[in-house]
Amino acid sequence: MNEKIKLSKPYLLSADDLTIDDINNIFVKTHFFMDNHKTGVKYDDLKSTIVSLAFFEDSTRTKLSFELAAKRLSADCFSFQAKTSSLSKGESVLDTLKTIEAMGVGIFIIRHNCSGVPVFLQGNTNGMIINAGDGQHEHPTQALLDAFTLHKHFGDLKGKKVCIIGDILHSRVARSNMTLLNTLGVDVSICSPGTLLPYDMNAWNVGIIDTVDEAVEWADVLLVLRLQRERMESGLLPSIREFSNYYSITIEHLRRKPELMLMHPGPVNYGIELDYSISKLPNVLIETQVTHGVFVRMALLSLLSGYAN
Ligand code: CP
Repeated sequence: MNEKIKLSKPYLLSADDLTIDDINNIFVKTHFFMDNHKTGVKYDDLKSTIVSLAFFEDSTRTKLSFELAAKRLSADCFSFQAKTSSLSKGESVLDTLKTIEAMGVGIFIIRHNCSGVPVFLQGNTNGMIINAGDGQHEHPTQALLDAFTLHKHFGDLKGKKVCIIGDILHSRVARSNMTLLNTLGVDVSICSPGTLLPYDMNAWNVGIIDTVDEAVEWADVLLVLRLQRERMESGLLPSIREFSNYYSITIEHLRRKPELMLMHPGPVNYGIELDYSISKLPNVLIETQVTHGVFVRMALLSLLSGYAN
């Protein structure tokens, strides 16, 4: 491996920060970490770096996989617990970042429920910000691990057809995937109730498919999204049951086309966007996505490590 390879930008705020060479370098490094993985083996890429997991919004997969990834690269790694912090006494997010930075932290993995917080913080720190999901804006490392999962299954992704299904309006995963998959030459479409489509849909280079049956027929991969009830204003859907009747993926959909692959970023609302009966089918990649997330995040941190303080 050429240890001098770096990504083109010294942070990751958006999927748009990644060139096709960056993505390919991340995939090569991810393969290296996967192929050579043994429990307990560590690399020294982040040996002199302190990493802070600053999650102002809840997470299971992203937070734990970043923690594992940073520790496997020998970082000093600690979690900032928003719920028990001095935020409750009125301290601002920026003052919180500055306080953590004063402890010598070089890399901040940030999740926040407000769009734009990672961009704002990157403009106010000498450290490196990695966006672990901000509001409805972006979740670039989820898009990276989704694309790696597809690349591992299909090889070259140029011309492959991915349909993103469900709550596009509230989904940072959809936005980052639309950008990253377009960079890789994937043909992307979306399938969603009209009330859950973003207002600026014309700005995205994606097709629109009206029904799940048409999506199943067209796509090589369905990327199904969680219905984000916590971000939803009332009136966007007549009822959850009606959404489920029209947009839930069932075992019949996958039986009809056994080569069709299905991904979901998690957490899944079984019974709403996915039928529980499909969860163990071989073409459902949800657990594989989680496994790949650790190695993709190791690769990302390794390729950014040359920039870290
Ligand atoms: N996919 C994802 O971001 O999951 P978490 O919210 O559990 O991190």
